[in-house]
Formats: sequence, C-alpha cells, structure tokens
Amino acid sequence: MGRALGAEHAEADPLLRPSGNAKFGDFQANAAMGLGKRLGRPPREVAERIVVELDLEGLCEPAEVAGPGFINLRLTGEALERGAAALVGDAQMGIARAHEPQRVVVDYSSPNVAKEMHVGHLRSTIIGDAIVRVQEAVGHEVIRQNHVGDWGTQFGMLVEHLVDIGATGEGAHIADLNAFYQEAKKRFDADADFNGRARERVVALQGGDAETLGLWQKLVDESLLHMDEVYARLGVLLTEGDVRGESSYNDGLGGVIEALEAKGLLEESEGAKVVFPAGFEGQDGEPMPVIVQKGDGGFLYSTTDLAALRYRVSELDVDRIIYVTDARQKQHFAMMLAAGEMAGFVDERVRTDHVTFGMVLGEDGKPFKTRDGGTVRLMSLLEEAEERAGAIVAEKNPGLSEAEMGRVARVVGIGAIKYADLSGDRVKDYVFSWERMLAMEGNTAPYLLNAYVRIRGIFRKAALEGAPEGAVVSVGHEAERALLLKLMELGSVVERVSESLEPHQLCGYLYDLATAFHRFYEHCPVLVAEDAATRDGRLVLCELTGRGLKLVLGLLGIDVLERM
Ligand code: ARG
Repeated sequence: MGRALGAEHAEADPLLRPSGNAKFGDFQANAAMGLGKRLGRPPREVAERIVVELDLEGLCEPAEVAGPGFINLRLTGEALERGAAALVGDAQMGIARAHEPQRVVVDYSSPNVAKEMHVGHLRSTIIGDAIVRVQEAVGHEVIRQNHVGDWGTQFGMLVEHLVDIGATGEGAHIADLNAFYQEAKKRFDADADFNGRARERVVALQGGDAETLGLWQKLVDESLLHMDEVYARLGVLLTEGDVRGESSYNDGLGGVIEALEAKGLLEESEGAKVVFPAGFEGQDGEPMPVIVQKGDGGFLYSTTDLAALRYRVSELDVDRIIYVTDARQKQHFAMMLAAGEMAGFVDERVRTDHVTFGMVLGEDGKPFKTRDGGTVRLMSLLEEAEERAGAIVAEKNPGLSEAEMGRVARVVGIGAIKYADLSGDRVKDYVFSWERMLAMEGNTAPYLLNAYVRIRGIFRKAALEGAPEGAVVSVGHEAERALLLKLMELGSVVERVSESLEPHQLCGYLYDLATAFHRFYEHCPVLVAEDAATRDGRLVLCELTGRGLKLVLGLLGIDVLERM
C-alpha cells in the first residue's frame, strides 16, 4: 500500500538544486551521473550533450560542465531581476497553490481531560500547528481535530469524587485539576467503598445516566477552559470548535465492532474481541492483535480511533489525515490504520501520515522534570519563558515602554519555545535549554526576530514604510545575488515541507535567509549606497527579506516585532 506511514524522510533527489556556492553557479544539475550509467556513456559526455541541447536563452548564462558530469547554471542579471519583481508582486512569495487542493484533517494536541496539560503535549500542539499553517499556505483546506481524551473508566472515580466533595460550587474545587485527579486516584486505590462506587459510576456514565453525564460534563468543561488558556497563551490556532473528543465517537463504537464482524475480521482472544491486521508480529513471532472490545464490554483507545477514522473518511470526506503524537504511539497508529483498511474504513485514496516526535529532555539528558522531579506544568513553563525573555530584552533595550516590553517578552519567549521545538529534526528527542533557545546568535528565534527588527530599523531610519514603488533590484555584489537566490527558494521550501511534514526544514531555511541577509548588509551599504537606484534596489532586497522572515516565521506560529 502506498501509505506514507513511517516514510519519515522519503523525498526524491531533486534534479536541479541550489549550488550554495557561487563557484558552481546558482544551480547545479547532478543528473548526468545517473543518466550516464543508464545510457552507458561517460557522464561528462552526457552532460556536454545536454548542454548543447539546452535552450536557456534569457534565463541563464551559457551552461558549464564541471567535474565528472555536473552542469552548472548561472542565472542572467535579467532573470534575477524578473525573479525579484515576481516576489515583490506576490504576497505568497512564490509559494504555489496546490493544483488539486485537498481536505486535510490534522489531529493534534489532543491532551487528556481532567489532567493538566504537560510538556509532552507541548510538542504535539506546536508541531501540529505549524503543519496546519503550512497546509493552508499551499492551498489545502484544513480541518483541525483536537482528539481530547475525555472518556474512559477513570471518569468513574473523578465523578464520584466530585459528588463527594460537593458538586454545588461552580467548579472552584476542580480548578486545580492535577490535585483533583490525584486525590481521586488516592481514594480509588485506598478506599474500598469509594472504589466500589467509582466502578458503579463508570456503568452509570456509559449507560448515559443524566446526572452522571452532567457531572462528567462539568469536569470536561473545566479542562477545556484550562486548555484554551494554554492555547491562547501559546498563540496557536486551536479553539474549542476544534475539539472533537473521544466521547463524541461513543455512538460509533458499536458500529465499528459490527463492521469488523461483518467482514469476518473479529476474533475472540481471552474473552476480548480482537482483530489481527496483516504484517504485525510480536517478538515471539506470533501475530499481534488490536483489541477492540474488552471481555466486560468496554471499548478501547483503538476502537475510538477506528470510529474517528471512519467518521473522517466518510463524513468529513478527507483526502489526507495527519496524526501528530509522540513516537511511542507509532505501533498503535500503524496497527489501527491497517485494521481500518481491512475493515474498509479507509483505502489508498486517503493518505495517512503519523507525524511522530521524540521526547523533551532536561539538560541532564533525562525526561524533562521540575527540580523536585514533578511533571512540568505547561502554563508555568510559558510564564517562565516570558519572564526570562523579558529580562534579556530589558537589558538589551531598556528604552522600551512597559507595554511594549510585555509584548516583546511574549513574542520572544513564546517564539523561543516554539522555535526550539521545531528547529530540530522532530523525530529526535530534544533537550530543553533556556540558554540555548534564548541565545541571540545561532539558529534561534531571537536571532531571526532580531534580523527582522534590524530590517524594520533600516526603514524607520529612512522614514519609509517599504521600498520605493517601482524600484528595481540589480544584482552587483555576490552577497546580493546569494540573498536574492535564497528569497527565490522560499516557495519551493514551503511546498516541500507540505509534503515532508518536517518543520525543521523551514527553520533551516530561515537561518540561511537571515545569515544571507547579514552578509549582504555587511557588504552592501543600503541607505548610503553609491547612487539612488542602487539604494532603492537594496531596499527591495531588505523588504523582501523582511517579508520572507515574517511569512515563514508565521508558518511556525511565531510573530515578529518592530523593535526589541
Ligand atoms: N490523548 C492522547 C494522548 O494524550 C493523544 C490522542 C492522539 N490522537 C488520536 N487520534 N489518537 O496520548
């Protein structure tokens, strides 16, 4: 099956790539090597033959063959000028809209209700949000799905605890959800009477008892409030309207079992109902089952995911589903999707991707914890980020007003957390380090924000909003050329990430862009350029760089600042 599952890095080798070194032209084709083999001719000869046939009139200088069979291409000044003009006139800066727009579900964040969100959910939220924005940028229609864990046997004890401590108050006592959960759990483990009542509650809940459902809803609502605070603070796109929790698939669970039964896929194993998707074996070589219904009739995480899959394919009519969770759920999704395919809930017309990510580690290399070993609360983490960023900014630019300082601290602090999460290859674990993520140098949010600020500063100094109307870029210095080529690459980088779902490619691009800008700025005076035309052309490059930084940072969910 052509599933993209697990195809984390599958990407065709592009025929033509930016050379990255002016010595080899602007672009280099490396096809001659492979072609040579296929044609049984010396690669260099093949390359020379290609060059003879090439018609790049007006686009490139005469192509050159180099080394064992490379073709080096260098754009003409005229082509570069046209490239710059096209970027100026395009708000999307070269990002092409998909020929066939798709409807894409992105299933992300998805924390569990009645437990406070922790740092593990941070990654899913940040990575998922960047993926949503990239899909939209290339013209797809995105349906965000926050598949919150709002159902399950633990709600028996939570509701019963709520009953005991008095459900009359307006939720003040469940505001501290972590403590509430722990209290309930403690009683569940130690108090036999409570334990019994909690179990009866589960039955009442699953049986649709109105009073129980009302209490359950109270807990869910309280949790959602808390999640919304975190989302707002983080500045992600998720809203309450995107919540479609596990509980919403209740009515579909029986149908999942029936459909599996009808296809003859259901088997009994130790009292439970299971499916054996093809191709999954345990270490003992025995086929591995997906359990869809327990002996006591209860349904499982997988059953809910199968119902959700069915709903998304048949009701939402999607072309692609992207799941964003940590790598530990790899097998769950692989098996669930395989079972769903056997059941006919999904077929090869729908592309499914499981976007996995590694763990957040502390600087000691162990799972990220508070100093006393507890789980890190997301909200306090975000607060600390803003505080730390605020302190750095206050030192760097004490002249900012208090209101401005607050905004800068937020953008830098939240931006730093997001960027640190996104800039490494997501499949790897990443080490949470305040010092690194807030550094003004290196591949960090502050470095990029600062590049943007510098550009805005140039325009402020010139008392201009942007480059003068009609200004034309003419590329003289190599640093100008390198910067413009970087800018012209923006569209293809974003398009590639919409396929590969690897936001770190965007970060790598941003870093290269900012670095190319700094080199340009160092070598090519802008406001004191030798003549007005040169100055104006350089202002265009400044403006494009600013727009490019803002656009791509925006795809990562990071705001920019006028000053910091
Ligand atoms: N609630 C789950 C967790 O916290 C994540 C759900 C991911 N989405 C899904 N469709 N299973 O681990």
